[in-house]
Amino acid sequence: MHPDWRRICDQFLTATSYSELEYEDGWKDRHYDRENRPETYLSYPDAEVRIELGEPRRTETPDFWTLLDNRRSKRNYLPEPLSLNELNLLLWSGQGITADMGDYQLRTAPSSGALYPIETYLIVNQVDELTPGLYHLSIRDWTLEGLHLGDIRDIGCRALRGQEMTRHAAVNVIWTAAMERCRAKYFERSYRYVWWDSAMVGENFLLAATAMGLGACIMGSWYDDQVHELLGIDGREHFSVLTGTVGKVEGTNWLNDRRPPKTDS
Ligand SMILES: Cc1cc2nc3c(=O)[nH]c(=O)nc-3n(C[C@H](O)[C@H](O)[C@H](O)COP(=O)(O)O)c2cc1C
Repeated sequence: MHPDWRRICDQFLTATSYSELEYEDGWKDRHYDRENRPETYLSYPDAEVRIELGEPRRTETPDFWTLLDNRRSKRNYLPEPLSLNELNLLLWSGQGITADMGDYQLRTAPSSGALYPIETYLIVNQVDELTPGLYHLSIRDWTLEGLHLGDIRDIGCRALRGQEMTRHAAVNVIWTAAMERCRAKYFERSYRYVWWDSAMVGENFLLAATAMGLGACIMGSWYDDQVHELLGIDGREHFSVLTGTVGKVEGTNWLNDRRPPKTDS
């Protein structure tokens, strides 16, 4: 841990705060060129495989208020795969494109300035029709890009700070921020926006999981360095902002589903 973390965190708050007295002066020489803004979409043309997800098939869901009643963090995952359609629905709920304004496409979750800095990586342990491994979601063409195929369950669990449920999960999700997309417009404040953006995506993911009767949990605790190495990102311009985990659960007793499985069964 950094010995001077408290001072640095205080400085972060100061450096990213707005005050009425300084606001106009601070912004007067700043210019955002929206025509030449940083690329919104990241993709990996050299991916080992490309799986086109297509439009997900919607499932019957409980009504919205019941969904809110029933959302709980669930970690007691069964050793059963998700279907590819379930995964597609989870991803679409967080980041599916739902409207086109020409130079901006809008999505299921809101984003500061419609800049969409959040990228999604998946550690796939068990999903029907997918080889296990590390994937990236290419949002523009709604395609999963396989970056490293093979069983990375143990590496993934370790990088996610050894949280036991992640070893049993069908999928672990790592949301990252491509900083320049947001910083080009919002400068210092962008270092707040990207975390909020990721939480919007994360909550939609949780509600979609609840709607499908899946167990899911958001995680704020992981080894940043190991996650960045696994993803091949630099941890400064592109870094992890939120993680999540999802799998099948029995679903009859939320209290029972709250804890991870005790054995490797
Ligand atoms: C930002 C954030 C970070 C969290 N980090 C973790 C985590 O690292 N591990 C974990 O098991 N749960 C984590 N949780 C889940 C909380 O423990 C959970 O939301 C809380 O206990 C309330 O329970 P509920 O979600 O079932 O209502 C996190 C939740 C949030 C919102």
